[in-house]
Amino acid sequence: IPVDPFDLVIFGGTGDLARRKIIPALFRRFCAGQMPDDSRIIAAARSEMDDDGYREFAREAIAEFGKKSADNKKALKGFLKQLHYVPVDAKGEGGWESLKSLLRDDENVVRAFYFSVGPSLFADLAKQVRSHELSTRESRIVVEKPFGHDLESARALNEELAQHFHEDQIYRIDHYLGKETVQNLMAVRFGNMLFEPLWNAQYVDHIQITVAETVGVEGRGSYYDKSGAMRDMVQNHLMQLLCLIAMEPPARFEADAVRDEKLKVIRALDPVDPDQIVRGQYTSDGEMASYREDAENATSKTESFIALKCYISNWRWANTPFYLRTGKRLAARASEIAVVFKETPHSIFGIDSGRHRNVLSIRLQPNEGMTLGVTIKEPGPGGMRLVDVPLDMSFAEALGPEAEEVTDAYERLIMDVIRGNQTLFMRGDEVEAAWAWTDPLIEGWERRGDSPKPYDAGSIGPDDAAFLINRDGRRWRGIKA
Ligand code: BG6
Repeated sequence: IPVDPFDLVIFGGTGDLARRKIIPALFRRFCAGQMPDDSRIIAAARSEMDDDGYREFAREAIAEFGKKSADNKKALKGFLKQLHYVPVDAKGEGGWESLKSLLRDDENVVRAFYFSVGPSLFADLAKQVRSHELSTRESRIVVEKPFGHDLESARALNEELAQHFHEDQIYRIDHYLGKETVQNLMAVRFGNMLFEPLWNAQYVDHIQITVAETVGVEGRGSYYDKSGAMRDMVQNHLMQLLCLIAMEPPARFEADAVRDEKLKVIRALDPVDPDQIVRGQYTSDGEMASYREDAENATSKTESFIALKCYISNWRWANTPFYLRTGKRLAARASEIAVVFKETPHSIFGIDSGRHRNVLSIRLQPNEGMTLGVTIKEPGPGGMRLVDVPLDMSFAEALGPEAEEVTDAYERLIMDVIRGNQTLFMRGDEVEAAWAWTDPLIEGWERRGDSPKPYDAGSIGPDDAAFLINRDGRRWRGIKA
């Protein structure tokens, strides 16, 4: 759906996120005919640069990160014309009037201010935008994670932003919500009759959520070492996946209806016992650096891996374990959710047939798709032996070339900001509830002085993570060593 011409200001416009994600995403939307010719994209940052300098920056960003769109030279020319640059001092007076003069003087034009900067500048920028009268009733701000470091800082941040903007003007990005397959989770659950009746404690044995990465922390050590996998991934991305898997059907696919249901899930999460949490830290494989080398902290106790078992205390999920795990430098890049159903109550085929469970695996990335494990008869004359076979659906195969180049999360999310649709953005109370659950777990291991378990780079994490699930008579699915 095309949108009306808009003005988008990217604070931190010369930063890494702008280069890797925001500019390439905008260009791809431009190529798709979704960005009107007279929209303005104004990058603002500290460095001195002019429009031409910024256009060169954008050209390089698109060449490197624009995927197939990078070949569209004609479109590129038109797109670059829409870019502008102004040097702005986030904390001082410099540049704000020039920025104002670049914005259209029309109350009805959507103005989006993307705070692609560190969180320590969010409050300053919000204040500056207001005090220089840049914001209109059609203005919105976009902020990125980390949204706070704990409950207290998240609350403070929410309060600061609330002094200048209404909640319906604040778009907190969790880029996992913009991923095509993450939205597909909702489509699968609420667009089919097949799954929802079975989607509860009565039929589901347990659920696993895995987000495995092969990358280490490389250049991000100084941020990451203060965060760890819990704050960096679980509090936000895995929490969002958990919510979408576990929430009640919202009455409508609308921002507050969806977010109300997600919030209820987070608030129903039980505290996690320390013996249900396994933290790990990668060691060197001889070639690549260890976590401690990457983080430049020889005594770091920060986890680059975490696995935990949690419960949601509500009618639908009582006593159903949710196993979550995520880590860096693992054997494969694979994000997957597995819904493991219970065994049939009685086997008519006798003990020889073994015990079988249906498993619905949803692959978020890569090879986006779904597999439903079903039990059938093993072919041949050997009697009634059962085997599990996958009913496999790759989204790219099923949907054709359209789906082959998966839309980047940022394309969807930026356009949603322009359209004024907050469904895929986190509300302030949701973020706070997630921290309220996370904080005591972190405080617990810090108080006890626990060290993460070392694990080999390229493995599937520390052995204790396997033990966490194996002792319940279950096993991890997805990535293999
Ligand atoms: C970010 C984390 O939010 O998500 C990174 O800070 C992580 O540590 C990244 O690597 C993973 O995102 P994706 O889209 O590559 O799965």
